[in-house]
Amino acid sequence: MQFFIDTADIAAIKELNETGLIDGVTTNPSLIAKSGRNFLEVIGEICAVVKGPVSAEVAATDVDGMIKEGKRLHLIANNVVVKLPLTWDGLKACRALTAENIKVNVTLCFSASQAILAAKAGATYVSPFVGRLDDIGVDGMDLIQDICTIYKNYSDFKTKILVASIRNPVHLVRAALMGAHVATIPPNVAKQLVNHPLTDKGVETFIKDWQSTGQKIL
Ligand code: E4P
Repeated sequence: MQFFIDTADIAAIKELNETGLIDGVTTNPSLIAKSGRNFLEVIGEICAVVKGPVSAEVAATDVDGMIKEGKRLHLIANNVVVKLPLTWDGLKACRALTAENIKVNVTLCFSASQAILAAKAGATYVSPFVGRLDDIGVDGMDLIQDICTIYKNYSDFKTKILVASIRNPVHLVRAALMGAHVATIPPNVAKQLVNHPLTDKGVETFIKDWQSTGQKIL
């Protein structure tokens, strides 16, 4: 399973990238707005830090505008993945950019039928948003299960399932149990993944007992 970090905060990306466990980054217009930074500059900086896929989202809503903006974003670095919304125009732009070997992440996926269309449009990634479904009283993980099952039924569907809008470690674990290819995780949730009180307690006890032996390894 691949781990992407869902943020446009360079400091957070650098900190987590030092773990060596980060495979890519996703951003969206809201995260760019939160960063207060220039969009093209911040994507360039992220691509210099993380060599894996970095998703950058278009602002246009029409097919021609999306294609033009997608090509501009792709010029920033080879690892830019163009993020397009799951609309008919987005799907058309996905086919056009994919035909030019530009990778596309089709985002804002909230149904299995949308995920089928993303695969048929040749998307490299589809991003189903689990947290936002949970927010309206629908179990977002049911959607991930449906997409995993459908994609496994068709060997010609090459699109990777990128689980997005993750709000807690349980979302990540359930996605992994279902066999989703990628999870994009906000920095605060990424930091929570390692925590367990029994680990902290165990380390404390082992250090105390080791010190009581009076030995040294080095
Ligand atoms: C994914 O690419 C999106 O940027 C993200 O996961 C959205 O998450 P949110 O619902 O917490 O805003």
